[in-house]
Amino acid sequence: MHKPINVLMLCFFSLLSFSLFLLVPHVYGAEKISDYVGADACKECHPDYYNSYAKTIHAKKAIPNSPGAGAACESCHGPGGKHVADGGGKGSIVSFDRQTNPAKKSAMCLTCHDSTQELTFWDMGKHKTMGVSCDACHTVHSATLYVRHSLKAPESTLCLPCHKDVRSQINRQSHHPIQEGKIKCSDCHAVHGGFGPKMVKADSGPDLCYKCHTEKRGPFAFEHPPVAENCATCHQAHGSNHNNLLTSKVPQLCQACHDTGLGHNSLALTGQHGFMGNATANKNRFFAQGCLNCHGNIHGSNRSPTFER
Ligand code: HEC
Ligand code: HEC
Ligand code: HEC
Ligand code: HEC
Ligand code: HEC
Ligand code: HEC
Ligand code: HEC
Ligand code: HEC
Ligand code: HEC
Ligand code: HEC
Repeated sequence: MHKPINVLMLCFFSLLSFSLFLLVPHVYGAEKISDYVGADACKECHPDYYNSYAKTIHAKKAIPNSPGAGAACESCHGPGGKHVADGGGKGSIVSFDRQTNPAKKSAMCLTCHDSTQELTFWDMGKHKTMGVSCDACHTVHSATLYVRHSLKAPESTLCLPCHKDVRSQINRQSHHPIQEGKIKCSDCHAVHGGFGPKMVKADSGPDLCYKCHTEKRGPFAFEHPPVAENCATCHQAHGSNHNNLLTSKVPQLCQACHDTGLGHNSLALTGQHGFMGNATANKNRFFAQGCLNCHGNIHGSNRSPTFER
């Protein structure tokens, strides 16, 4: 009478423990299912974090795969059973503080965001390889939700504490209008990683610049070779103390490649342009001259092989 039941029981329990064996290490690491306690348990002791989270996109139950539709706080902080049983305290739950390993922090986010298109090249980016984690730029508990993409600060200032050289560049006399809010760092950079050099959003220098300065692309009947090759030969992308983001002043900029000796002087100054010279006629008279007064279409021209206006 009793035997068949025992066999059945045995089968049941071995099946159960086998499935637990499968489930436990794969899904929840070393923790048990019961270690997930739900957001209400956290609310009592962390009302501020509860309320700030509740206002964010992550808390929205209607969005599939959001923390709100799943394990809430514990989607990011991991199971909280032990932490709650201990009555809170440090070290018993995943924290996003400075001491926590950046790769571990990002991994919590990537359990969901590894399929976000934006994050496809995260593993290749300098930020990941240099130990910058998601929470260096994003907050998920912010009261300042006017900042798009849950950023910790508006993009015009977000990156600057870590990139002090860029901060000084964008404050120079000539600069891309980043602080003015007309363009953003992420218009040019794939902040989550990409194929371009220096994580720019293009394969080559000119392609990046053509996105907004299409008129410089040509094609021109008479091309100025350095232009199609690399805008950065003459321009500093963030900012410069010379007009037009130039890497150096005209004429030095041009004279790095062109020998404008006496031959060119006489050619240009006599007959053709009727220039009569000045008080320093015995010196190189071009030195104080803007080459651009005559070679005004420096990016290429359809009329003049020497890019004159
Ligand atoms: C009984 C009160 C209590 C409950 C319930 C509680 N916590 Fe805590 N929690 C604390 C205390 C106290 C600390 C330590 C704070 C400190 O020292 O700054 C803490 C710290 C933390 C930390 C930082 C840990 C660290 O190592 O720095 C996180 C993250 C956290 N709690 C999340 C949660 C989550 C998520 C829940 C719900 C699953 C939760 N807490 C439930 C009291 C609680
Ligand atoms: C989407 C991921 C995510 C969710 C969901 C989430 N947190 Fe956090 N939590 C973070 C991050 C990231 C930080 C670091 C500070 C920040 O982002 O503003 C943090 C910080 C904290 C801290 C401060 C200690 C620390 O780790 O730096 C506590 C406490 C905390 N969260 C509790 C909670 C509670 C309670 C909930 C649920 C009501 C919750 N969190 C939901 C990601 C999350
Ligand atoms: C349980 C899954 C899950 C986890 C874990 C998670 N997210 Fe999300 N997150 C989502 C979903 C779903 C959305 C909304 C749809 C979307 O944009 O993909 C979202 C949206 C976002 C957005 C866009 C929000 C906006 O304001 O535009 C950012 C940024 C973000 N998450 C960052 C993080 C960070 C940082 C972490 C880790 C601290 C994290 N997420 C953890 C599921 C998750
Ligand atoms: C260096 C700063 C930085 C880091 C680190 C960073 N992000 Fe972002 N993230 C941004 C900026 C800036 C944007 C908005 C502009 C953009 O989408 O390029 C953004 C946008 C997003 C979005 C929204 C995309 C959309 O289309 O709305 C998600 C989701 C996101 N980040 C998740 C993450 C996750 C997950 C990590 C970590 C694996 C991470 N980010 C690391 C700066 C960062
Ligand atoms: C108009 C496009 C553009 C904008 C906007 C822009 N960058 Fe760049 N950035 C570039 C280019 C192009 C390079 C590569 C320059 C080179 O190789 O000479 C670069 C290089 C960098 C580098 C690497 C510098 C080095 O010497 O290795 C950092 C860091 C950087 N940018 C950060 C930023 C930050 C932060 C912002 C916003 C404040 C920003 N950039 C805005 C185009 C841009
Ligand atoms: C928490 C600090 C931190 C923040 C915030 C940060 N970065 Fe970085 N960034 C780094 C570090 C570290 C490196 C790697 C060392 C280096 O090249 O300076 C890096 C490298 C870069 C590079 C050079 C990539 C290469 O291939 O050389 C670019 C471009 C860049 N960051 C852009 C940004 C932009 C844009 C933002 C804001 C959206 C930003 N960073 C925010 C720390 C940060
Ligand atoms: C996302 C759009 C965008 C990209 C990409 C871009 N620029 Fe610009 N650029 C602007 C805007 C906006 C201005 C300001 C125009 C104005 O104020 O009329 C500007 C202005 C300039 C100026 C004139 C600056 C001055 O002092 O008057 C130069 C030179 C320039 N860009 C060169 C470049 C180069 C080189 C690249 C590639 C590294 C580039 N730009 C990429 C948007 C862009
Ligand atoms: C051989 C040096 C040189 C190269 C290479 C070069 N530029 Fe310029 N760029 C200049 C000079 C010089 C000026 C100032 C022109 C003036 O004052 O008439 C200028 C001005 C500009 C301006 C602002 C004034 C205007 O004409 O709109 C933009 C934008 C610009 N360049 C974009 C680019 C882009 C994009 C590239 C790459 C495709 C590029 N430049 C490559 C020398 C160069
Ligand atoms: C990085 C080097 C470089 C810089 C900087 C440079 N150029 Fe050139 N430039 C060239 C090359 C290469 C040619 C093509 C020469 C040839 O075809 O024989 C050229 C051609 C020219 C020509 C047409 C003459 C000819 O022989 O076809 C003029 C005019 C000219 N450059 C003026 C300037 C001016 C003005 C500047 C400064 C604003 C300048 N260049 C900056 C490399 C440069
Ligand atoms: C007053 C007008 C004027 C100024 C200023 C001027 N050029 Fe020229 N340049 C010319 C003319 C005109 C030609 C064409 C000569 C010809 O077709 O024989 C020329 C030709 C050139 C050439 C083609 C090679 C050659 O020597 O014939 C280069 C390169 C050049 N200039 C560079 C420069 C540079 C660099 C500067 C500034 C240091 C400069 N030019 C200033 C008018 C000028």
